[in-house]
Amino acid sequence: MNLTVMKIFLILFGIIFLASCADRAAVSQEGGLAVSPASASSEETSEQVIVERWNSAEQVVLGREVFTQNCAVCHGAQAQGTVEDWREKLDDGSFPPPPLNGSAHAWHHPQEILLRVIDYGGESMGGKMPAFIDVLGNDEKLAVVAYFQSFWTDDIYQQWMQMGGTN
Ligand code: HEC
Repeated sequence: MNLTVMKIFLILFGIIFLASCADRAAVSQEGGLAVSPASASSEETSEQVIVERWNSAEQVVLGREVFTQNCAVCHGAQAQGTVEDWREKLDDGSFPPPPLNGSAHAWHHPQEILLRVIDYGGESMGGKMPAFIDVLGNDEKLAVVAYFQSFWTDDIYQQWMQMGGTN
């Protein structure tokens, strides 16, 4: 290979290399535009609007009171549970109180079932949870659900809605 051919080769190679860099620069610029602060924040706001809860803030306040007095002793003050592993049966074969904060199983149950558990407890099924049907009023039962649901992420809440939710 003589020197001239080599030079042409190097120049061509240089052009191709530069061109590909320019392409990449354009792509990253487009990417940069797509996630520019203005458009990202407007997307976030529209997502936040979609995940509206069924309850009011007042219900969460009442629910916290009801929960603290009636449920926290077993389910933890912030519905985080009181045992290390809620899936592990106790010596007597019953299950420990699970967390209700979205980290366990409660979000698999639509509202109707959650209220039924609160009304009748788990004793009829060999469980330990007492019945609250004669202890709490309807508004207190709804409020207590709103309280433990306030610990659920939007993602968990949306999955709950898809699995029945308040319907
Ligand atoms: C004496 C302990 C105890 C108290 C008090 C108690 N629970 Fe429970 N809870 C349990 C146990 C144990 C279970 C698991 C089922 C069973 O064994 O009955 C349970 C299950 C549940 C479930 C079903 C969760 C799931 O993942 O399926 C909900 C919902 C629930 N409790 C809500 C409440 C609420 C709300 C209160 C207060 C009004 C309350 N519990 C008070 C012990 C308790």
